[in-house]
Amino acid sequence: MDDSTRNRLMADVARYYSTKIAEHGVQPRGVDWNGEESQVLRFVQLARIIDRPDGFSINDLGCGYGALYAFLSVRHKTFQYTGCDISEAMISAARRRYGTCGNARFILSSIPPEAADYTVASGVFNVRLHYSGNQWLEYVLHMLDLLDRASCCGFAFNCLTSYSDAEKMRKDLYYADPCMVFDLCKRRYSRNVALLHDYGLYEFTVLVRKSP
Ligand SMILES: C[S@@+](CC[C@H](N)C(=O)[O-])C[C@H]1O[C@@H](n2cnc3c(N)ncnc32)[C@H](O)[C@@H]1O
Repeated sequence: MDDSTRNRLMADVARYYSTKIAEHGVQPRGVDWNGEESQVLRFVQLARIIDRPDGFSINDLGCGYGALYAFLSVRHKTFQYTGCDISEAMISAARRRYGTCGNARFILSSIPPEAADYTVASGVFNVRLHYSGNQWLEYVLHMLDLLDRASCCGFAFNCLTSYSDAEKMRKDLYYADPCMVFDLCKRRYSRNVALLHDYGLYEFTVLVRKSP
């Protein structure tokens, strides 16, 4: 996928999510989740990449209005958080909510400004809009390379699963093959990869732990 197609794709995705937060406000539906319970369940899976209690840095790619920052704040005392999102409306909402928190910053970008100990991405691979499965897969692969580069100790992300019930699947969403994604991460990024597909949602989470 060339840069101009990818930029167009990201602009379309940003527009989609900006419309969602304009419609539903700062709550899980505003980032296209069904509710807080599943949003937090996703965070619980992704946060398993964090292997120390405190003193870490984390990039949140596709941070939305910053819900992961709130989740981490009740569990960890000292950490540095960078939220990135391509939707201006999301970044404005996040800054209004958490802009005064000294350990958090929110940046309008698809690329974290610097590598952190960990990078997580929740929900960024789900909505493919009118792009083909092949185009979207190319985009996902590009983004996984980016997650890898942005992370010193490890990264974690989730995808909708191709094991979803056929009658519930939507044409505008991307359902990844968990076995393919696991294999890719093992071969390309690290020997230490976990595939979590046991938490009751139509999706899976991958944890990639990098060698020390
Ligand atoms: C499903 S929402 C989830 C938001 C947040 N992670 C959460 O769980 O509350 C996905 C978010 O990712 C953002 N996003 C999608 N693709 C992105 C990309 N390539 N780079 C940065 N942000 C992206 C969207 O604008 C949207 O805010």
